[in-house]
Amino acid sequence: MSEAAALEDARARDAADPLRALRARFALPRDGEGEALTYLCGHSLGLMPLAARDLMTEELDDWARLGVEGHEHARRPWIPYHENLTPGLAALTGARDTEVVAMNSLTANLHLMLASFYRPQGRRACILMEAGAFSSDRHAVASQIAWRGLDPKTTLLELAPRAGEDLVAEAAIEATLAARGEEIALVLWPGVQFRTGQAFDVARIVRAAHRHGCIAGIDLAHSIGNLPLALHDANADFAVWCSYKYLNGGPGAIGGCFVHQRHIDAQSRMRHSGALPGARLAGWWGHEEATRFLMEPEFRGASGIAAWQLSNPSIFAAAPLLASLALFTEAGMGPLREKSVALTGYLEGLLRPLEGRVQIITPGEPPRRGCQLSLRLAGGAARGRQVFDALAARGMVCDWRAPDIIRVAPVPLYNRFEDAWLFVQALTQVLKG
Ligand SMILES: Cc1ncc(COP(=O)(O)O)c(C=O)c1O
Repeated sequence: MSEAAALEDARARDAADPLRALRARFALPRDGEGEALTYLCGHSLGLMPLAARDLMTEELDDWARLGVEGHEHARRPWIPYHENLTPGLAALTGARDTEVVAMNSLTANLHLMLASFYRPQGRRACILMEAGAFSSDRHAVASQIAWRGLDPKTTLLELAPRAGEDLVAEAAIEATLAARGEEIALVLWPGVQFRTGQAFDVARIVRAAHRHGCIAGIDLAHSIGNLPLALHDANADFAVWCSYKYLNGGPGAIGGCFVHQRHIDAQSRMRHSGALPGARLAGWWGHEEATRFLMEPEFRGASGIAAWQLSNPSIFAAAPLLASLALFTEAGMGPLREKSVALTGYLEGLLRPLEGRVQIITPGEPPRRGCQLSLRLAGGAARGRQVFDALAARGMVCDWRAPDIIRVAPVPLYNRFEDAWLFVQALTQVLKG
């Protein structure tokens, strides 16, 4: 197909896209000369929904207008503000409203969840996670192990892909659990791996963990808003996420947390139940709202996962997320995923002629990936970095992940088929040069 015909084809796909109008609801970054950039970096920082500005302004105005009264009398009163986010987060995670809450940040939530669910006992003391996990997850896990007086060298089990491979099969996780399950207290696994873009069968991992008596926690940083999720039915014990990637909540946006209903039900609302898995570390924002301001010394938990909240949340870190969740509700995760599969498959197809020079390490089967494709350039890491820099000079916004990966994510909320075409066009030119 000629270049012109290929571009026509991309534009025809965009014209036929039922979700195409959503792109205009986002701020699209431009270069210093005002030229539109090709933004394919929603796996790192999602774009700003235009409505976020209005919601932020409303909160600033209410603060200016009302001062402390805003806690109760803002347009969206601040005391129960997190409740505005709950239905959208529950829909995206496949959870009940009582099982999800927006709070803190991902790593802070991971520490809270490990405090609640990591209960080393005798021989069953290990945490199983992936080798090459996102550094913050590993720091959190290793420090939790050390904080309990155990040695991360022997107590942190890291499952690596087979030599020379990038991906870890679910069967390998099952095999590790079959071999060492009695030593493992908790399995922490990502829904989507940040470097490779591999999506995991969460329900299968949870089943395997439970079969061997282990707690199963999931890091959804690269999954939420990217893939449909079903945490409640999957029976996951807990999950954590950040909201600035596919959720477009803005830099440093409020994170989120899931605790399965069975653990919530097991906790007494009236007591700190330190002995139970899921035991809460408490703060006043987890206290039931009606009596919170009586400031009584005894804790009475709010119902649901809201009881795990510690502090009053930053409204400014939450308002943009509200704007984005409204767009997810409007579009529906089903249609978004349908477009995502088509768009990422289209990008993959355009990259096929570059095989040999560009290796896609992300799995090819749609159920095993979200929208991100991870590319490794032939010629080694230095060559890869050079290609990445040349792509950036041509207005392509993607990112580089050490040691040798370029990550590219066409996001169905705001990316076009034409963006995929522009990227491959630029990459082809760079490789020729
Ligand atoms: C997989 C994963 N875990 C943890 C983090 C750290 O997130 P935060 O800075 O919100 O704690 C990130 C951030 O990108 C991530 O991708």
